[in-house]
Amino acid sequence: MSAAVTVVVLAAGLGKRFKSTLPKVLHRAAGLPLIHFVMRAVEGLDVERVIVVVGHGKDEVIEAVKPGRPSAIFVEQAEQLGTGDAVGRCKQALENFGGPILVLNGDCPLVETESLEDLVADHRKAGASVSLLTARMKDPAGYGRIVRDENGGFARVVEESDAGVAERAIDEVSTGIWCFEPAPLFAALEKITPDNAQDEYYLPDAAWEIASKGGIINTVAAQNPKEAMGVNDRAQLVEASRELRARKIEKLMAAGVTIEDPAATYVDETVEIGPETIIRPHTYLEGNTRIGSNCIIGPSVQIVDSLVEDEVEIKFAVVAEAEVGSGCRVGPFAHLRPGTRLKAGARAGTFVEINRSTIGEATRVPHLSYIGDAEVGKDANIGAGTITGNYDGETGIKSKTLIGDEVLTGSGTTIVAPVRLGRGAVTGAGSVVTKDVESGDVVVGVPATKVRTRKPKKGGGRGDKH
Ligand code: UD1
Ligand code: CA
Repeated sequence: MSAAVTVVVLAAGLGKRFKSTLPKVLHRAAGLPLIHFVMRAVEGLDVERVIVVVGHGKDEVIEAVKPGRPSAIFVEQAEQLGTGDAVGRCKQALENFGGPILVLNGDCPLVETESLEDLVADHRKAGASVSLLTARMKDPAGYGRIVRDENGGFARVVEESDAGVAERAIDEVSTGIWCFEPAPLFAALEKITPDNAQDEYYLPDAAWEIASKGGIINTVAAQNPKEAMGVNDRAQLVEASRELRARKIEKLMAAGVTIEDPAATYVDETVEIGPETIIRPHTYLEGNTRIGSNCIIGPSVQIVDSLVEDEVEIKFAVVAEAEVGSGCRVGPFAHLRPGTRLKAGARAGTFVEINRSTIGEATRVPHLSYIGDAEVGKDANIGAGTITGNYDGETGIKSKTLIGDEVLTGSGTTIVAPVRLGRGAVTGAGSVVTKDVESGDVVVGVPATKVRTRKPKKGGGRGDKH
């Protein structure tokens, strides 16, 4: 077995073409920072150590990388003097290391592990000093072009800004993914100069320098030119996002999820979905979201950081930081806000908003309700237009509403918290509940007062249907 490689990821740049204060590699595609995808491609390799060169927004970049790769070494490049300088900064961190060094840009999220493996394997086989992953691009604009000598061998890379008309016409580009032997690399980096249009130390010039000393330069064509894409601006971010989402959707479909219209479905890389679930169009599944099996989600649903169990149906709804139990029905036009928990078989119907509340098993909130800071028991029916008044506008205090099992609220009931409705209590249409209601009591009016005790249900006492 040959020695493992060391990886250097360049991520110190700001990304001028992004016109952003956020470092480029932290812009998100499919819900994750660009650099995450590069780190993941590297993950699959037999890696000795991973060095990330940071500069602009270094603390944020470190914070984004560290959880996924606690062993990563961060090298600071305080001033962005070019990719050659960035690699040069790693000299110390690479001391006592004999194996090849794989260098890649933090802005190439589409690269896959296999291509990196191929590059390293080919580098070893060729006994090269340098190997470069190349690609043929339909539109090579922005990339370094590969200039070949009369025998078709590698001569050098010319950056777009230094290229003449003829060189710009070259469609073979550098992916920015290199494999170097350490000794010739660091010797060459001492020699390169920032004598170019951008006044930068170019890493590609190190290859040219090594070649001029007789080193073997090996080029390997990427299987899929798409992988070579560098994300330099927001248009390219959109393009990369589209590709990453398409890959995610392919994986989900292969695992048994139906996605009715992949082009109109937005699933973050982080989302998990169980088999036999159907995702209908115009659906956004984001962040730390898990969806069970046999669900029907959509059309027009946004779910963020939520847990949805099995056999759930959600349509035309927004669900954020919520838990939806198995067999629940949500929507159309429902909003489940953070801290909402629907227990198994519950229903949140049309124009219903629920916030920081638990809705018990098989309880129905079918129409036009606001339920906030409430605990609702099981088998209750919250009538159309029932509202919890959880917020005192004068004091700014939010209070709790407790609604027992099997409670029935009449249409347009307003429940002024803090208040508790006992098991099986009933409120009349339009009642305003300001005081606790005892178990089984029927209250009506404004303020709601007791008129009688609830009648037992036909065919048995209340609550014995389960
Ligand atoms: C670079 C290559 C180009 C290649 C292309 C592939 C150079 C000079 N050019 O061009 O040949 O075709 O990638 O996508 O290498 N960075 C630093 N420190 C610096 C400068 C850059 O860490 O001083 C980092 C950036 O954060 C970025 C990466 O290096 O992640 C590449 O820099 P970028 O400015 O995007 O280079 P390109 O112009 O795309
Ligand atoms: Ca780039």
